[in-house]
Amino acid sequence: MTSNIKLACVMVGLPARGKTFISYKVSRYLQWLGIKTKVFDVDDYQRKLKNILYHQDHCELSETTAEKQVLDDMLDWFQLDDNKTKATMSGTVAIYDGTNITKAKRKWIHDTLNNKNVQVLFVESQCDDDNLIRENIRNVKLSPTIMQQEKAIDDYLAYVNKHKDTYETMTEPDYTYIKLINAGQQYVINLVRGYLESRIVYYLINLNIKKKRIWLSRHGESQFNVQDRIGGDADLSPRGEEYARKLPSLISKHIGDELPLTVWTSTMKRTNQTARYIKYPKKQWKALDELDTGVCDGMTYDEIAKKYPEDFIQRDQDKFNFRYSGGESYRDLVLRLEPVIMELEQHERILIIAHQATIRCLYAYFMNLDHEQLPYARVPLHTLIELTPTAYNCEEKLYKADIESVDTYRPKFAGVENAKKSSNKTSGVSGEIIDSSEPILPLSPHP
Ligand code: G3H
Repeated sequence: MTSNIKLACVMVGLPARGKTFISYKVSRYLQWLGIKTKVFDVDDYQRKLKNILYHQDHCELSETTAEKQVLDDMLDWFQLDDNKTKATMSGTVAIYDGTNITKAKRKWIHDTLNNKNVQVLFVESQCDDDNLIRENIRNVKLSPTIMQQEKAIDDYLAYVNKHKDTYETMTEPDYTYIKLINAGQQYVINLVRGYLESRIVYYLINLNIKKKRIWLSRHGESQFNVQDRIGGDADLSPRGEEYARKLPSLISKHIGDELPLTVWTSTMKRTNQTARYIKYPKKQWKALDELDTGVCDGMTYDEIAKKYPEDFIQRDQDKFNFRYSGGESYRDLVLRLEPVIMELEQHERILIIAHQATIRCLYAYFMNLDHEQLPYARVPLHTLIELTPTAYNCEEKLYKADIESVDTYRPKFAGVENAKKSSNKTSGVSGEIIDSSEPILPLSPHP
């Protein structure tokens, strides 16, 4: 599907209201769905321009200089997209991360963009809850090394409060906007229409801006893993069973016992068997089931390469979009997992026990992996992954259970001959025992 919809999400709100966090979350979500998105941060522009002026000994920098530069660059960026032969899936979205607290400023932005056929969705974050504001300053504005943090927060608040007199909350009847009040206590939605706007608004309503952590684990090694087979609904192998028995102590050690945890599994035997010794409440999601490999279900990669050589090569050429005959592609899987992401965003302590492909998709959402990287992310067996989303990206920690397993990772190879060669290699190949010190998840996050 091609489309030339151009949408600007323009943030509104006093400093320290979570606008940057929201901007990056929306950007990651849209990119995960395949919609080209970019954040334009006014603070960044201001810092860079100040630096240039300082070195050039120029006159003082007005706030508007940076804002004008942001708008110009946004319009250029949209223009670049127009010139591309291959349009993106459902349009392009630029996110304007600034304060825009006056009606006059919003009118200027709205009219400038509208004149260039860019639709505008204002996203206002309004917050008068002191604890939330202080928490946001702590997380986003201050470096953890700053001494006397509370004093630094007070100083920052004093600076923010200076803007309060000029702040005009959104009431413009003709503009499209969503207002998020006190981090989701209440929403005001005005004149939202169209696919992209509705999708973003739905996402924002589900977004919980409180700090959270998410844990991901593949099921323990299965009997199919040992035989190098994909798909199926096999039981755990003895080593997989050992992982299931060890998981509660891994959780207790790294996640802690003080606060309750909810465990989500797929509907397949291997994830439920992996979760069975965990004492916390569990929920099964069909959406978390492994990638449906259609006619290749239950086969080894070597068997697939022999029986469907063309498909095998095609998959290596575009793994994200390749759909197994009678089954799914990674693109299909991302769409299947969207409701899981929506619900995940509302919770603060969820452990997901799922499969290689489904965890790759969830991991890619939090770590901002692109569609090239996503199907090749390394997600080893017998490892608990902890993700902590931050304002700009996401921190990860890996806890290995130190239980040997096969390595089901299959690197990208072009063609059957190379694929066959790969099955004789000594690393990164299905069926081989991996060392517990092997480096994992080498893909670095994209801010
Ligand atoms: O087929 C099931 C696998 O978990 C997905 O692995 O996409 O690397 O072939 P793959």
